[in-house]
Amino acid sequence: MSASDLALIPFVSVQNMMRLILEIGTETCIAEIETYLEEDFRRWPLFDKTPRVASHSHEGVIELMPTSDGIEYGFKYVNGHPKNMKDGLQTVTAFGVLASVDTGYPLLFAEMTILTALRTAATSALATKYLAPKGATTMAMIGNGAQAEFQALALKTVCGISKVRLFDVDPKATEKCARNLAGSGMTVIKCATPEEAILGAQIITTCTADKKNATVLSDNMVGAGVHINGIGGDCPGKTELHRDIVMRSDVFVEYPEQTRIEGEIQQMPEDFPITELWQVMTGEKPGRTDDAQQITLFDGVGFAIEDFSALRWLRDKVSNGRFCHMLDMVADPDDPRDLFGMVQRERERMSAA
Ligand SMILES: NC(=O)c1ccc[n+]([C@@H]2O[C@H](COP(=O)([O-])OP(=O)(O)OC[C@H]3O[C@@H](n4cnc5c(N)ncnc54)[C@H](O)[C@@H]3O)[C@@H](O)[C@H]2O)c1
Repeated sequence: MSASDLALIPFVSVQNMMRLILEIGTETCIAEIETYLEEDFRRWPLFDKTPRVASHSHEGVIELMPTSDGIEYGFKYVNGHPKNMKDGLQTVTAFGVLASVDTGYPLLFAEMTILTALRTAATSALATKYLAPKGATTMAMIGNGAQAEFQALALKTVCGISKVRLFDVDPKATEKCARNLAGSGMTVIKCATPEEAILGAQIITTCTADKKNATVLSDNMVGAGVHINGIGGDCPGKTELHRDIVMRSDVFVEYPEQTRIEGEIQQMPEDFPITELWQVMTGEKPGRTDDAQQITLFDGVGFAIEDFSALRWLRDKVSNGRFCHMLDMVADPDDPRDLFGMVQRERERMSAA
């Protein structure tokens, strides 16, 4: 590879991400990311793992999420600001990097706001695939914001869910979500209360944003034999489920050290029993053992390995040079020790021009 090749790193902008999704289709993107996730969950022990590095403020959180499989290194920058919506801003935005462990050079820069929605949906689908009762057809989607349509489409394409029952405290969000899902092939039902939304649903996904311990679902609302994806409780002091639901559930998590800080189980004692999702996938631990009696809860907070999988998928998608442009991101002097000289030569080049 020539020196100039090393200086230029593919960058996937928001516009290119949208073009990629429109060319392939949202459901295909999610289904493909789900296969990358499954591959990485199955080799979970070999990854570097750490709870994400969080900088909390009164209004929100900014987090860095690094991991490596020893060959590649990835990280995501992501924020969570529930109050942003009122100001016409997004609750969650993100970007990320994939790099070579061998050289430390970046391999890919990417927008990750849309990619996070795809990967979060694919992760819910992965958990649901392993934990939902057999033959589930109906989901409730509580919280109809930015993530919601992706969550519904993921469960349609990966788990065969055909009916979605929507609820949001803001009816405008439900209207938006129903409008976006019309034509998706799913039967979409707008509901006026959370109780109505979960009627007849075998899968309940909560994906709300509020910077507090909310009770989106209370104990009496949740019957046996359901699977819950709790996605919106992902920060200290920010949960969605009444603790009695958590108490009655078999709880599955990504990385316990992070989930005990951020997930629904932050409400529970330190030794509250949980199962790591990857162990269900490798057959080391049981998942759902009873379709009628058991409540399974995927206490999803979002873990760095999921972003790594999504970045791997994206890197492979843009490896043909489409849907990206090259950024001059790495200073690459002809003589690697002569960084200073490279700057001086640029002055000469500029004055000659
Ligand atoms: N676990 C993960 O990997 C992951 C990834 C991305 C986002 N998230 C979290 O998911 C949540 C949703 O993200 P988003 O981007 O869709 O946010 P958003 O702000 O676009 O949408 C959130 C929606 O929740 C609704 N809501 C708030 N309280 C509610 C309640 N009690 N009942 C019903 N609806 C309620 C709001 O009206 C809004 O429409 C956020 O909390 C975010 O931090 C988690």
